[in-house]
Amino acid sequence: MTATNDSLPAVAGGVPLRNEVLPFYRPAIDESDIKLVSDTLRSGWLTLGPVTTDLERELAEYLGVKNVIAVNSCSAAMFLALKALGVGPGDEVVTSAMTFTSTVNTIIHTGATPVLADIETETFCVSPQEIEKRTTPRTKAFMPVHFGGQACRIDEVLDLARSRGIRVIEDAAHSFGASYNGKKIGTFGDATAFSFYATKNLTTGEGGCLSTADDGLAKRLRQLSYHGMSHDSWSRYADRGAWFYEVNVPGYKCNMSDVLSALGLSQLRKVDELTARRTKVARWFIERLADSAYFELPRIRPGNQHTWHLFVIRLRLERLKIDRDTFTKALGAENIGCSVHFIPVYKHPFFRSYIDETDTYPVCEEYFSRCVSLPIFPSMREEDVDDVVTAMNRIAAYYERTQ
Ligand SMILES: Cc1ncc(COP(=O)(O)O)c(C=O)c1O
Repeated sequence: MTATNDSLPAVAGGVPLRNEVLPFYRPAIDESDIKLVSDTLRSGWLTLGPVTTDLERELAEYLGVKNVIAVNSCSAAMFLALKALGVGPGDEVVTSAMTFTSTVNTIIHTGATPVLADIETETFCVSPQEIEKRTTPRTKAFMPVHFGGQACRIDEVLDLARSRGIRVIEDAAHSFGASYNGKKIGTFGDATAFSFYATKNLTTGEGGCLSTADDGLAKRLRQLSYHGMSHDSWSRYADRGAWFYEVNVPGYKCNMSDVLSALGLSQLRKVDELTARRTKVARWFIERLADSAYFELPRIRPGNQHTWHLFVIRLRLERLKIDRDTFTKALGAENIGCSVHFIPVYKHPFFRSYIDETDTYPVCEEYFSRCVSLPIFPSMREEDVDDVVTAMNRIAAYYERTQ
């Protein structure tokens, strides 16, 4: 709700544009979600069970892939994929410098060395040329990130990987439902990891999954995700009783529960509608900001179908007297939530020992200095978009750099 047309930004003493905060994200949970979760709670079966099996089957059908393994986060999914593909000490894994820390943490947890590659200006996704530059005889896997809801140049990444015998695990935390040239993300590399975290297009609160066309890999992933227990042994030794299991590999505890899977099933059945609503919000922003002197709009690479998990604008800093951090604070003062995706991995103290001064990431640096993620969620209304744009313009006009 717009409170005032006063042109002085709130951060400079004006009245905030909105009385109520417009959050950066509001989850889209409705009665159909609540019903399916309640039904599962009432069923008496709370952990891994039939609802998770249903979710996996429906996810596989949706993505058009042979196998889906539901797990408790995208971080777990990436870690399991690395382990199942034999990545470990002595290996290098090349990933994007512009990602959430968990992509890199999972590589470190296997004992392998993460190697960061710079991004491309157009999509903020990792650049295949940069991946190639950083590939060595020790490179065992690439972990490209499909940033914000659109595919990276996955065809080029796969060509490079295949020519060198390197495995590809995709971080599609942002990109459930996205496609490239009509083919869904999740059907390209050796394995793809998705996130069902609270802000994602399809959410289970916390959760994720892996997709793979490789049956052998799927079997290893399933086993690793659940203590290393083998489903084969359940059927092979059925005569010994339901209590019997066999562990051939010390696995982890990363499985999904039926309660969360119920939410996942319900969300999956409307995920295209939720993404269509985000797309509408993205269009409203694009219409209003297309000719802006202060803000640069995100671009979609031809062939990509974007899910608009994020809507990232870049400030034209040459037109402003303020930096990105002051701008985000000013937007907050107008009662409008926003965020920054991401702090480049190499800026985190823990990562310093993995790089030296010859490792530079100029595109990442430039992007990070001016990126702002605007609020975008399915229930956002056109008036909310108007408020965001009015607030942004008010701030920019006040802090305009005059030559
Ligand atoms: C690019 C990226 N990769 C991985 C993750 C980790 O996802 P999760 O929280 O499901 O482990 C996130 C989280 O938002 C992310 O943004």
